[in-house]
Amino acid sequence: MLILGIETSCDETAAAVVEAGKTVHSNVVSSQDEVHARYGGVVPELASRVHIRMIPAVIDQALQKAHVTLADIHGVAVTQGPGLVGSLLVGLGAAKSLAMAFELPLVGVNHLEAHVAANFLEQDPPPFPFSALVVSGGHTNLFYVSDHLTYRTLGQTRDDAAGEAFDKVAKFLGLGYPGGVVIDRMAKTGDPVSVAFPRAMMDDDSLDFSFSGLKTAVITHLKKHPLEDPGLEQKQADLVAAFQEAVVDVLVSKALRAEARNRTGHLVLAGGVAANSRLRAQLARAASSAGITLHVPRLAYCTDNAVGVASLGYHQLRLGRRASWDLDAYSRLPHRLPPRHR
Ligand code: KG4
Ligand code: ZN
Repeated sequence: MLILGIETSCDETAAAVVEAGKTVHSNVVSSQDEVHARYGGVVPELASRVHIRMIPAVIDQALQKAHVTLADIHGVAVTQGPGLVGSLLVGLGAAKSLAMAFELPLVGVNHLEAHVAANFLEQDPPPFPFSALVVSGGHTNLFYVSDHLTYRTLGQTRDDAAGEAFDKVAKFLGLGYPGGVVIDRMAKTGDPVSVAFPRAMMDDDSLDFSFSGLKTAVITHLKKHPLEDPGLEQKQADLVAAFQEAVVDVLVSKALRAEARNRTGHLVLAGGVAANSRLRAQLARAASSAGITLHVPRLAYCTDNAVGVASLGYHQLRLGRRASWDLDAYSRLPHRLPPRHR
């Protein structure tokens, strides 16, 4: 069963062809980073316009790279939310048009579940149940996942997402967008204990997160201790390394805490911030010493893509789920959508 996945929830236009939820035949991602870089963040109106311009070519390429035509496709899966509504609507419009024209079943997919599903395209997919940490530009969530389509939220951020904190700190320092990649690279030469930034909500029992205080602490520190020559580059590297360490410490502790409660023995990392080298290393170390198997997707499957969408779509279609033509976009999604049949 070949599924065409379509993803336009934020600033990446993506399409993929995946077989039986696990074999990737193509994975095409067109990034809008250059469009948004000068603004230091995603401009929703521009994102929608670029999606409209790019989506036909992105879908064409995904089919070509998979050496198939739409006549070979068995179903269309599309990200329904959460995300930017204007962006999501472009993907939904494209998916509905193709499904209608080629008489294919259509399913809507949750963006966060699609991030997690990227792990099922790897060699050693996680067995159910498992704990999952999804860290992206818009979300920081801990889940208990009992099967492909059953997610229970254990914790989430009360304010900024982890990726958002990276992007905002980078913007304040004038380091460019997206900030996570730049900070990850710069932090490699920095001293992570140069500044003791706060680790929020570590003492309470909850599995929720808060990153806006950390962002404010970095900005306040910079106002008190402006970064100047001599040694400006090293000072910047030290500062971002200390900031990154605070984010990573919290993510690692809470993920391990969630696993200690659930004892599934398997922890899955997903989302754009899962590309962070320090997070990958520290989580691997902590998981290994706690006897937990860590599953991390390759870098290309961390940031937004459509392989997870197509994989998840397969599992919905397998169970006979179908979306109706009024399938709508949501900026925030109640975590489990009731399946709608047509
Ligand atoms: O999942 P994603 O592509 O889009 C959303 O669903 O939000 O995540 C994008 C986020 C951005 O905030 C970006 O700065 C962050 O992921 N990111 C990173 C790294 N690569 C991307 N954050 C930290 N380290 C990285 N290497
Ligand atoms: Zn994402």
